[in-house]
Amino acid sequence: MESTTQPTREWFKDWANEYDNTLGKIKRHHQLLELAVKMSKVKDGEHVLDIGIGTGLTSLKFLKAADCTIIGIDNSRDMMDICTDKLDKLGIKDKIECRMMNAVSLDFPKESFDIVVSTVSLHHVKNKYPVIKAIHSILKPGGRFVIGDLDVDTTGKLTDSKRLMRILDYLMPELVLALKDGGIEGFSRMYDNGKKHILNDGEYCISFEQWADICYRAGFAKVVVKSMPNFERFKALCAYK
Ligand SMILES: C[S@@+](CC[C@H](N)C(=O)[O-])C[C@H]1O[C@@H](n2cnc3c(N)ncnc32)[C@H](O)[C@@H]1O
Repeated sequence: MESTTQPTREWFKDWANEYDNTLGKIKRHHQLLELAVKMSKVKDGEHVLDIGIGTGLTSLKFLKAADCTIIGIDNSRDMMDICTDKLDKLGIKDKIECRMMNAVSLDFPKESFDIVVSTVSLHHVKNKYPVIKAIHSILKPGGRFVIGDLDVDTTGKLTDSKRLMRILDYLMPELVLALKDGGIEGFSRMYDNGKKHILNDGEYCISFEQWADICYRAGFAKVVVKSMPNFERFKALCAYK
């Protein structure tokens, strides 16, 4: 199992109780998840895997869009506990099954899902190709893999000032938005998060050009990328098996 996933787990243990009150308050985040759902073209009766389900924000939007069934996985017990409590209160535990599982060791039979979705989660995994290859294998023929994430390449040397400029360029509007929608609590959390992007401390973002390239190499036949209106740095991608 990838050693880089341990600090991420610690980070989400700390963040879990505040998640819905910080990132969950930012309207742009919800719009990104809605774009991911729209691009998946989910239909009634389809079976969906949500990788990095977190507090369930994406899965709940899938359920609004179609009468589908969902398995959500996460490697943070704390995030998952919040999700399961929420599903319990909403009385929809039969629609979303939560399982503790690391994205780097997906344990599902081949051709299990119509859709695999992952929003702002897979950038926590450093070595992405084997995960995307595994996702390709657990999708049914004609299945779709959807990512919603930020379009910023944070790879490279930490001492590279051009790289730092690129990340700061993304962070500036993001932090203003966090303050506007999430108040001081939202700003403070996203500010800490920004430092993690800069230092590659559990955050390993790549550009959507790089995501698309990995998808093609993993065997996907076609990849479509869309930007969010007004938020060019946030995109969703749909890869067709
Ligand atoms: C930023 S949250 C996103 C949650 C949700 N998808 C959303 O969009 O609001 C990232 C989630 O991915 C989970 N995660 C990070 N690395 C993971 C891994 N290797 N395997 C499974 N889940 C992981 C974290 O625990 C966290 O719940």
